Amino acid sequence: MHRSKEETYHLPVLWQEICETLITRPDGVYYDGTLGGGGHAEALLKRLSPRARYIGVDRDEEALTAARERLAAYANFEAHKATFEQVRDVLGRAGVDHLDGVLLDLGVSSHQIDVDARGFTFRENAPLDMRMDQHSGITAAELLNTLTEKELADIFYRYGEERRSRCIARGVVAFRAVQPLRNSSDLLPIIDRCVNARFRTKSYARIFQALRIAVNDELNILEQALNSLTEVLRPGARMAVITYHSLEDRIVKHFFQTMENPCTCPPEFPVCMCGKQPVLKRMRPYFRQPASPEIEANVRARSAKLRLAEKL
Ligand SMILES: C[S@@+](CC[C@H](N)C(=O)[O-])C[C@H]1O[C@@H](n2cnc3c(N)ncnc32)[C@H](O)[C@@H]1O
Repeated sequence: MHRSKEETYHLPVLWQEICETLITRPDGVYYDGTLGGGGHAEALLKRLSPRARYIGVDRDEEALTAARERLAAYANFEAHKATFEQVRDVLGRAGVDHLDGVLLDLGVSSHQIDVDARGFTFRENAPLDMRMDQHSGITAAELLNTLTEKELADIFYRYGEERRSRCIARGVVAFRAVQPLRNSSDLLPIIDRCVNARFRTKSYARIFQALRIAVNDELNILEQALNSLTEVLRPGARMAVITYHSLEDRIVKHFFQTMENPCTCPPEFPVCMCGKQPVLKRMRPYFRQPASPEIEANVRARSAKLRLAEKL
């Protein structure tokens, strides 16, 4: 099947559901915290009025360049380099106070995975980089070569849910006593020695996920972002978050639940005494997943979960 340059960069997941649910005011201000190749942005811009504003954010300059090129025809689109929790700063630059819709499509784009030099892949000899922003932060190789064995085991266990985390951390420390780890071909044999050959690929995926989360501080940034984005949503405005693994989905689910029911009174209290008021209302169904045709056309959609909430 032939795919256009834009489709090769990244196919937007659940884009129809996003278009149907996120737009509450066709001439409002929308914030896309994970612009990527601009696939969701284009689908939304086609449905928004030319008076709307679409503010796209990404921490990856390659994504910003691709999206700017794709969306050059839209005068109401602008792109900013930032991490998505820096929303106040971005809105300051854009001269905007409040938002009518927010989209976070978490994780990495197909482009980031497909380009070996970015280091997100466990194909042979890929450098252990994994920074979404190639101009700042420390690489996966630097983490592997400097953290203690315990810190590495914690990262593999907490962010990768890898049961053989300690064995793998021990292997990393033994390897680097001889020479530093540089690329995937240094790391994969260490994993191989700790896990059953049948589960190798799953363990590679778990360890690479763990390193990616640590390198980009993904879970802390997500927690901060949910709070700051909620503050700048206008009443009636919606926030849509697409997650790709259970760690990030748990954060979004818990945040939406807490914002809908923030009361901290003990259950035996007959009436609420803490006075905390609901801030968001979860939209039903509580989560949506791609149907089989979308997964058949785009295997990366298989683990996606979309959750939506509306500001009260
Ligand atoms: C799954 S892709 C988004 C794809 C996009 N929705 C599209 O249709 O092309 C995720 C993008 O978000 C960016 N990203 C991830 N975490 C980020 C963060 N904390 N701040 C800003 N950008 C982030 C990544 O660099 C990547 O380009």
